[in-house]
Amino acid sequence: MLNVLVVDDQASVRTALEVLFDVNDIPVMVASSPEEALELVAREDIGLVIQDMNFRRDTTSGVEGVELMRAIRKLDPDLPIVLVTAFTSLEMAVELVKEGANDYIAKPWNDDKLVATAKNLLRMRQLQQENLRLTWQGVRARREVQSRHELSGLIYESAQMHQVVTLATKVATANVAVLVTGPNGCGKEKVAEIVWANSRRSKKPFVRVNSGGLHENLLDAELFGAEAGAFTGAVRSRTGRFEEADGGTLFLDEVGNLSLGAQMKLLRVLQSGEFQRLGSNVTRKADVRIISATNVNLQKAIEAGTFREDLFFRLNVIEIAVPALRDRSDDVLPLARHFLETAALTEGCKVPVLSEQAEQHLLSYDWPGNVRELENRTKRAILVHSGDTISSEDLGLNAPQAGSMFPASATEPSAANPAATEPSSRDPEYAEIQTALVEARGMVSRAAAQLGISRQALYRRMERLGIELERRPKG
Ligand SMILES: Nc1ncnc2c1ncn2[C@@H]1O[C@H](COP(=O)(O)OP(=O)(O)OP(=O)(O)O)[C@@H](O)[C@H]1O
Ligand SMILES: [Mg+2]
Repeated sequence: MLNVLVVDDQASVRTALEVLFDVNDIPVMVASSPEEALELVAREDIGLVIQDMNFRRDTTSGVEGVELMRAIRKLDPDLPIVLVTAFTSLEMAVELVKEGANDYIAKPWNDDKLVATAKNLLRMRQLQQENLRLTWQGVRARREVQSRHELSGLIYESAQMHQVVTLATKVATANVAVLVTGPNGCGKEKVAEIVWANSRRSKKPFVRVNSGGLHENLLDAELFGAEAGAFTGAVRSRTGRFEEADGGTLFLDEVGNLSLGAQMKLLRVLQSGEFQRLGSNVTRKADVRIISATNVNLQKAIEAGTFREDLFFRLNVIEIAVPALRDRSDDVLPLARHFLETAALTEGCKVPVLSEQAEQHLLSYDWPGNVRELENRTKRAILVHSGDTISSEDLGLNAPQAGSMFPASATEPSAANPAATEPSSRDPEYAEIQTALVEARGMVSRAAAQLGISRQALYRRMERLGIELERRPKG
């Protein structure tokens, strides 16, 4: 239990307050001089100081009281302080409350009111200390996990991600199938890497397959390999990803997009460890640990008949759900600073700091594109900012018009789609495409190559998002 410390040079005041707190079951200590008070604050568990303003019979200036208050603040910036003052120095007490004293009481005081105030402040102090203790426990637990495991450069400070990482490192050693779920760009692949890197297979390959974009035949060939002539276009025989990953780990990204045919074959390998290349009836074996990821709700897909339930149970021995960035705001600023630093290093510029307003915007924004969007916005901010600070505008977070977010250059993308109903600048793709365009200095083909899509596809997306390239006369 925390103590109230009463500091007063007058013995009668000390005794009166000591008795008052005592009968109210509040532990109390007393000091008759500032020096004694400071010593007690440093040494004992003090939760509240009730202090006089004058410590010599002949002074009424309050200067000593002010000095004591400041000295206590230096020792312990959050320790609640209540000033006891004569009516004559009320004005000074009010000033001191502005400077950080929590309250003041005028002599003669009202016992009940003083006890109530003291109880409130002690409770506040206790909560403060509890929070601090929990924070430190969290920090220590995180550091412990971080020092004992390979976390693939994952940045986080939130309790939610700490849980994710703890689970990932725990299941890593278990050699079971893991399904990583979560919205777009929230870090599913990074979490998959962590599972692999902390598993007994960490020295063996981690092979990624994006099950999303490929047509069924190509996906089969990609996964299981194909003999020459197995299908149109299969000129040479090829090794599948299962063979490549033998002894290691196969990461099946966007597993929810697998066709039912591919799901069947996948199920067969998972059950028997056996598979055949396309166009071959030689049975091959592979010992592969599967980590899969999806941002669609597989349960719903099962209900809709587009995903096999038996495969789901094979893949989802353990599920690791990565929360959306908006649900773990403690990660936003650490991630932003990390990405700013990386981007600044890449660009060879000084690492800027975030303005207070930019921090506020980062924290209140709802991050539909999650960490990937944050990464893109910071990259872009590095390219467009000036000076040592990053503003909200640099991040494209409170710009009234998207066009104004870009630096003056000969070729400048700008928003021009008044018909769009959704503010498209909030589309996660928006920042990504703008970043690519700025990096490519407005050259669409180069930006498209950087994004890994065709020029036409980029034009279509720019049109949809209302991004236009505007030719401006130089000068
Ligand atoms: N906690 C993190 N610390 C550092 N970088 C991160 C973190 N989370 C995500 N990233 C980075 O953000 C980007 C997106 O992450 P990742 O690819 O893992 O997300 P995802 O959930 O797999 O996305 P998608 O749904 O699009 O497949 C990557 O560049 C990744 O390195
Ligand atoms: Mg991914």
